[in-house]
Amino acid sequence: MHRLELIGVEKEFGAKKAVHLTNLCLQQGVYGLLGENGAGKTTLMRMTCGILKPTRGVIRCDRIEIGQMGKTYRSLLGYLPQEFGYYKEFTALRFLRYMAALKALPEVTAEKKINDLLELTGLENVRKQKLKTFSGGMIRRIGIAQALLNDPEILILDEPTAGLDPGERVRFRNLISSLGKERTVLLSTHIVSDVDYIADEIMIMKQGRIIRRGTPGWLSDSVGQIVWNCTVSEENVEAIREKYVVGNIKDRGNSAELRIISGRKPMPDAVPAEATLEDIYLYLTRDKQEGEQ
Ligand SMILES: Nc1ncnc2c1ncn2[C@@H]1O[C@H](COP(=O)(O)OP(=O)(O)O)[C@@H](O)[C@H]1O
Ligand SMILES: [Mg+2]
Repeated sequence: MHRLELIGVEKEFGAKKAVHLTNLCLQQGVYGLLGENGAGKTTLMRMTCGILKPTRGVIRCDRIEIGQMGKTYRSLLGYLPQEFGYYKEFTALRFLRYMAALKALPEVTAEKKINDLLELTGLENVRKQKLKTFSGGMIRRIGIAQALLNDPEILILDEPTAGLDPGERVRFRNLISSLGKERTVLLSTHIVSDVDYIADEIMIMKQGRIIRRGTPGWLSDSVGQIVWNCTVSEENVEAIREKYVVGNIKDRGNSAELRIISGRKPMPDAVPAEATLEDIYLYLTRDKQEGEQ
């Protein structure tokens, strides 16, 4: 098991600060980095992989700066970039052989590993097919397979579920869960359900800052009562939506049932309800201050 530390890390692109002061420590388990587009997830991950240098701060693996570790760090690391490049004319098998060669895997072990990974990612039947015939989900899966070629102990996956259909998402979650049992897995997503259930720790990122982190249970405790079921007349729905974050609306003819996300009881007959991770995410990243101002 390795200990990955980000100490006082920041990243600026010219005048734009993409990642504000960040301190993190990652060990074994699945870490879900959750945030909308532009939050800074990719920048944080590229720094953690050593592809991008922080403007300030250091990143250490087992107390050694990753820049100093060079090849040793890369041998520990598996990375699926968000924009993952591949040769369309290559078959799945040829692509994985090519990536194995780039990672300097000995040929004998590579063949066995490739077979195992094709099976693990459910691509063994399409091993001889060209990548240009692959769906978005199949491309993500072969991306995960290439990231696992060197048996990495630290796995960094940037939006690995982009383009997956619902069935593939479920399979993917199971795969990540099992990988996290003996590795450090850091994955980013803007889809809450990708990390619900499987992440041991969730980090919520907004505008370059990790605004909250913790286990799903701790996140839930940290926000308190934030979900309220309310029945309101139809003509009031718009006004309420302007004032509150509304997670869900069920139309009941003249009235509507709203799931209001708010730190305060929004109206006298509001009924408290249990928060899902999605509610917590909406609450923590909300811009509205629900009548708090
Ligand atoms: N190479 C770059 N040059 C300039 N700005 C960048 C660069 N990469 C990212 N950014 C900016 O940094 C912010 C965070 O981007 P990114 O890390 O890609 O977020 P996310 O992955 O969460 O969508 C965005 O405002 C983005 O435009
Ligand atoms: Mg990104």
